Amino acid sequence: MTLPIVVKDLSFQYENDATKILRHLNLSVDKGEIVAIVGLSGIGKSTLCYCLSGIIPHVYGGIMEGEVLLNGKSTRDLTLPAIATTLGIVFQNPDHQLFSFSVEDEIAFGPENLCVPKEEITRRIDEVLEKVGMKEFRHANPHQLSGGQRQLIALAAVLSLQPEILIFDEAMSQIDIYGKKMVKEMILRLQAEGKTIVMIEHDLENLQIADRVLVLKGGKLEPFTGTLS
Ligand SMILES: Nc1ncnc2c1ncn2[C@@H]1O[C@H](COP(=O)(O)OP(=O)(O)OP(=O)(O)O)[C@@H](O)[C@H]1O
Ligand SMILES: [Mg+2]
Repeated sequence: MTLPIVVKDLSFQYENDATKILRHLNLSVDKGEIVAIVGLSGIGKSTLCYCLSGIIPHVYGGIMEGEVLLNGKSTRDLTLPAIATTLGIVFQNPDHQLFSFSVEDEIAFGPENLCVPKEEITRRIDEVLEKVGMKEFRHANPHQLSGGQRQLIALAAVLSLQPEILIFDEAMSQIDIYGKKMVKEMILRLQAEGKTIVMIEHDLENLQIADRVLVLKGGKLEPFTGTLS
Protein backbone atom coordinates (compact mmCIF):
# COMPACT_ATOMS: atom_id res chain seq x y z
CA MET A 1 0.00 0.00 0.00
CA THR A 2 1.24 3.50 -0.80
CA LEU A 3 1.61 5.52 2.39
CA PRO A 4 0.38 9.13 2.53
CA ILE A 5 3.76 10.43 3.78
CA VAL A 6 7.18 8.88 3.31
CA VAL A 7 10.32 10.93 4.01
CA LYS A 8 13.50 9.29 2.78
CA ASP A 9 16.93 10.35 3.92
CA LEU A 10 15.97 14.04 3.98
CA SER A 11 18.64 16.65 4.63
CA PHE A 12 18.18 20.40 4.36
CA GLN A 13 20.11 23.59 4.89
CA TYR A 14 18.90 27.10 4.12
CA GLU A 15 20.68 29.22 1.55
CA ASN A 16 23.54 31.22 3.08
CA ASP A 17 23.46 29.09 6.22
CA ALA A 18 26.17 26.59 7.04
CA THR A 19 23.99 24.52 9.44
CA LYS A 20 22.32 21.38 8.21
CA ILE A 21 18.98 21.61 10.00
CA LEU A 22 17.61 18.25 8.87
CA ARG A 23 20.10 15.38 8.60
CA HIS A 24 19.19 12.12 6.91
CA LEU A 25 15.70 12.24 8.42
CA ASN A 26 13.27 9.38 7.78
CA LEU A 27 9.55 9.21 8.51
CA SER A 28 6.60 7.09 7.38
CA VAL A 29 3.06 7.97 8.35
CA ASP A 30 0.13 5.57 7.92
CA LYS A 31 -3.21 6.62 6.54
CA GLY A 32 -5.46 7.81 9.36
CA GLU A 33 -2.60 8.16 11.82
CA ILE A 34 -1.97 11.18 14.08
CA VAL A 35 1.79 11.69 14.50
CA ALA A 36 2.95 14.42 16.88
CA ILE A 37 6.41 15.94 16.62
CA VAL A 38 8.03 17.80 19.50
CA GLY A 39 11.42 19.46 19.79
CA LEU A 40 13.30 22.42 21.21
CA SER A 41 12.64 25.89 19.82
CA GLY A 42 14.62 26.56 16.66
CA ILE A 43 15.46 22.87 16.15
CA GLY A 44 13.82 22.68 12.70
CA LYS A 45 10.18 21.61 13.24
CA SER A 46 8.73 24.29 10.96
CA THR A 47 11.47 23.57 8.43
CA LEU A 48 10.31 19.94 8.41
CA CYS A 49 6.71 21.17 7.87
CA TYR A 50 7.92 23.25 4.90
CA CYS A 51 9.53 20.11 3.46
CA LEU A 52 6.39 18.01 4.01
CA SER A 53 4.23 20.64 2.30
CA GLY A 54 6.52 21.35 -0.66
CA ILE A 55 7.22 24.95 0.44
CA ILE A 56 10.76 23.53 0.42
CA PRO A 57 11.98 23.15 -2.35
CA HIS A 58 9.34 25.17 -4.27
CA VAL A 59 9.44 28.45 -2.31
CA TYR A 60 12.45 28.55 0.06
CA GLY A 61 15.89 28.20 -1.40
CA GLY A 62 18.51 25.91 0.06
CA ILE A 63 20.07 22.52 -0.36
CA MET A 64 17.58 19.71 -0.08
CA GLU A 65 18.75 16.11 -0.35
CA GLY A 66 16.63 12.98 -0.13
CA GLU A 67 12.92 13.13 -0.82
CA VAL A 68 9.41 13.58 0.49
CA LEU A 69 6.81 11.32 -1.10
CA LEU A 70 3.11 12.19 -0.79
CA ASN A 71 1.02 9.19 -1.81
CA GLY A 72 4.14 7.89 -3.54
CA LYS A 73 4.88 11.06 -5.52
CA SER A 74 7.93 13.20 -4.87
CA THR A 75 7.19 16.81 -3.83
CA ARG A 76 9.90 17.83 -6.33
CA ASP A 77 7.70 16.55 -9.16
CA LEU A 78 4.44 18.03 -7.84
CA THR A 79 3.38 21.67 -8.22
CA LEU A 80 2.25 23.61 -5.13
CA PRO A 81 -1.40 23.73 -6.36
CA ALA A 82 -1.29 19.95 -6.85
CA ILE A 83 0.13 19.51 -3.35
CA ALA A 84 -2.56 21.82 -1.89
CA THR A 85 -5.31 19.40 -2.87
CA THR A 86 -3.46 16.53 -1.16
CA LEU A 87 -1.94 18.23 1.87
CA GLY A 88 -3.09 21.26 3.86
CA ILE A 89 -1.05 23.12 6.43
CA VAL A 90 -2.30 25.18 9.37
CA PHE A 91 0.28 27.52 10.91
CA GLN A 92 0.80 28.82 14.43
CA ASN A 93 -0.63 32.25 13.76
CA PRO A 94 -3.98 32.21 11.92
CA ASP A 95 -3.46 35.88 11.02
CA HIS A 96 -0.73 34.86 8.59
CA GLN A 97 -3.30 32.76 6.77
CA LEU A 98 -6.37 34.99 6.87
CA PHE A 99 -6.56 37.99 4.59
CA SER A 100 -10.20 38.30 3.45
CA PHE A 101 -12.88 40.49 5.02
CA SER A 102 -15.46 37.74 5.18
CA VAL A 103 -15.27 34.13 6.30
CA GLU A 104 -17.03 33.07 3.10
CA ASP A 105 -14.46 34.83 0.85
CA GLU A 106 -11.63 33.41 2.89
CA ILE A 107 -12.83 29.85 2.35
CA ALA A 108 -13.66 30.41 -1.32
CA PHE A 109 -10.18 31.76 -2.14
CA GLY A 110 -8.35 28.44 -2.50
CA PRO A 111 -11.02 26.61 -4.55
CA GLU A 112 -11.50 29.72 -6.75
CA ASN A 113 -7.81 29.72 -7.55
CA LEU A 114 -8.05 26.10 -8.55
CA CYS A 115 -11.05 26.92 -10.80
CA VAL A 116 -13.53 24.82 -8.83
CA PRO A 117 -17.06 25.57 -10.21
CA LYS A 118 -19.06 28.19 -8.28
CA GLU A 119 -21.86 25.85 -7.11
CA GLU A 120 -19.29 23.38 -5.82
CA ILE A 121 -17.50 26.19 -3.94
CA THR A 122 -20.81 27.20 -2.30
CA ARG A 123 -21.39 23.59 -1.31
CA ARG A 124 -17.88 23.28 0.13
CA ILE A 125 -18.24 26.52 2.15
CA ASP A 126 -21.36 25.06 3.81
CA GLU A 127 -19.65 21.73 4.36
CA VAL A 128 -16.42 23.01 5.94
CA LEU A 129 -18.18 25.59 8.14
CA GLU A 130 -20.45 22.83 9.40
CA LYS A 131 -17.39 20.66 10.05
CA VAL A 132 -15.57 23.25 12.14
CA GLY A 133 -18.80 24.30 13.89
CA MET A 134 -18.69 27.89 12.58
CA LYS A 135 -21.77 27.96 10.34
CA GLU A 136 -23.27 31.08 11.87
CA PHE A 137 -20.07 33.04 11.13
CA ARG A 138 -20.27 32.72 7.34
CA HIS A 139 -20.63 36.49 6.82
CA ALA A 140 -18.43 37.57 9.74
CA ASN A 141 -15.12 39.38 9.37
CA PRO A 142 -12.43 36.83 10.37
CA HIS A 143 -10.42 39.58 12.04
CA GLN A 144 -13.26 40.23 14.51
CA LEU A 145 -13.36 36.63 15.73
CA SER A 146 -11.48 35.17 18.71
CA GLY A 147 -8.07 33.49 18.23
CA GLY A 148 -9.57 30.00 18.46
CA GLN A 149 -12.35 30.90 16.03
CA ARG A 150 -9.81 32.40 13.58
CA GLN A 151 -7.80 29.19 13.77
CA LEU A 152 -10.97 27.21 12.96
CA ILE A 153 -11.60 29.47 9.94
CA ALA A 154 -7.98 28.98 8.80
CA LEU A 155 -8.60 25.24 9.10
CA ALA A 156 -11.93 25.51 7.22
CA ALA A 157 -10.11 27.33 4.40
CA VAL A 158 -7.55 24.51 4.23
CA LEU A 159 -10.30 21.84 4.33
CA SER A 160 -12.10 23.48 1.40
CA LEU A 161 -9.38 22.02 -0.86
CA GLN A 162 -10.27 18.56 0.50
CA PRO A 163 -6.73 17.49 1.41
CA GLU A 164 -6.30 13.98 2.80
CA ILE A 165 -3.21 14.98 4.82
CA LEU A 166 -3.16 17.81 7.37
CA ILE A 167 -0.15 19.41 9.01
CA PHE A 168 -0.62 21.54 12.13
CA ASP A 169 2.48 23.60 12.95
CA GLU A 170 1.93 24.57 16.60
CA ALA A 171 -1.59 25.51 15.59
CA MET A 172 -2.79 25.57 19.19
CA SER A 173 -0.05 27.71 20.69
CA GLN A 174 -1.78 31.07 20.42
CA ILE A 175 -5.27 30.07 21.45
CA ASP A 176 -7.00 29.75 24.80
CA ILE A 177 -8.01 26.51 26.54
CA TYR A 178 -11.46 26.53 24.95
CA GLY A 179 -9.95 27.09 21.48
CA LYS A 180 -7.46 24.26 22.08
CA LYS A 181 -10.28 21.92 23.02
CA MET A 182 -12.13 22.85 19.81
CA VAL A 183 -9.07 22.24 17.65
CA LYS A 184 -8.22 18.93 19.35
CA GLU A 185 -11.78 17.64 18.92
CA MET A 186 -11.64 18.73 15.30
CA ILE A 187 -8.36 16.85 14.73
CA LEU A 188 -9.90 13.66 16.18
CA ARG A 189 -12.96 14.07 13.93
CA LEU A 190 -10.69 14.49 10.90
CA GLN A 191 -8.85 11.31 11.89
CA ALA A 192 -12.19 9.49 12.14
CA GLU A 193 -12.84 10.56 8.53
CA GLY A 194 -9.59 8.86 7.52
CA LYS A 195 -7.36 11.94 7.26
CA THR A 196 -3.67 11.62 8.07
CA ILE A 197 -2.35 14.17 10.53
CA VAL A 198 1.07 15.48 11.55
CA MET A 199 0.99 17.91 14.46
CA ILE A 200 3.94 19.92 15.71
CA GLU A 201 3.46 20.66 19.38
CA HIS A 202 5.31 22.34 22.18
CA ASP A 203 2.52 21.84 24.71
CA LEU A 204 2.88 18.29 26.00
CA GLU A 205 -0.78 18.36 27.12
CA ASN A 206 -1.89 18.37 23.50
CA LEU A 207 -0.05 15.13 22.78
CA GLN A 208 -2.78 12.89 24.25
CA ILE A 209 -4.61 12.80 20.95
CA ALA A 210 -1.55 11.50 19.04
CA ASP A 211 -1.07 7.84 18.11
CA ARG A 212 2.70 8.31 18.11
CA VAL A 213 5.01 11.05 19.41
CA LEU A 214 8.43 11.71 17.87
CA VAL A 215 11.11 14.17 18.88
CA LEU A 216 13.21 16.13 16.40
CA LYS A 217 16.82 16.35 17.57
CA GLY A 218 20.12 16.47 15.75
CA GLY A 219 18.18 16.82 12.50
CA LYS A 220 16.50 13.41 12.91
CA LEU A 221 13.30 12.02 14.37
CA GLU A 222 13.36 9.60 17.31
CA PRO A 223 10.59 8.12 19.49
CA PHE A 224 9.80 10.62 22.27
CA THR A 225 10.68 9.33 25.71
CA GLY A 226 9.98 12.50 27.66
CA THR A 227 13.10 14.60 27.00
CA LEU A 228 13.41 17.13 24.23
CA SER A 229 17.19 17.52 24.10
N1 LIG B 1 13.79 31.08 5.81
C1 LIG B 1 14.87 30.81 6.58
N2 LIG B 1 16.13 31.14 6.14
C2 LIG B 1 17.20 30.86 6.90
N3 LIG B 1 17.16 30.25 8.09
C3 LIG B 1 15.95 29.91 8.56
C4 LIG B 1 14.74 30.18 7.83
N4 LIG B 1 13.69 29.72 8.56
C5 LIG B 1 14.23 29.20 9.69
N5 LIG B 1 15.57 29.30 9.69
C6 LIG B 1 16.50 28.81 10.74
O1 LIG B 1 16.40 27.40 10.78
C7 LIG B 1 16.44 26.94 12.14
C8 LIG B 1 15.21 26.09 12.40
O2 LIG B 1 14.05 26.94 12.38
P1 LIG B 1 12.58 26.40 12.48
O3 LIG B 1 11.68 27.57 12.35
O4 LIG B 1 12.40 25.29 11.53
O5 LIG B 1 12.57 25.82 13.97
P2 LIG B 1 11.34 25.40 14.90
O6 LIG B 1 11.72 24.10 15.55
O7 LIG B 1 10.08 25.43 14.12
O8 LIG B 1 11.35 26.55 16.00
P3 LIG B 1 10.11 27.10 16.89
O9 LIG B 1 9.91 26.09 17.98
O10 LIG B 1 10.64 28.38 17.44
O11 LIG B 1 8.92 27.26 16.01
C9 LIG B 1 16.55 28.18 13.01
O12 LIG B 1 17.91 28.34 13.35
C10 LIG B 1 16.07 29.29 12.12
O13 LIG B 1 16.70 30.49 12.45
MG1 LIG C 1 8.29 26.50 14.29
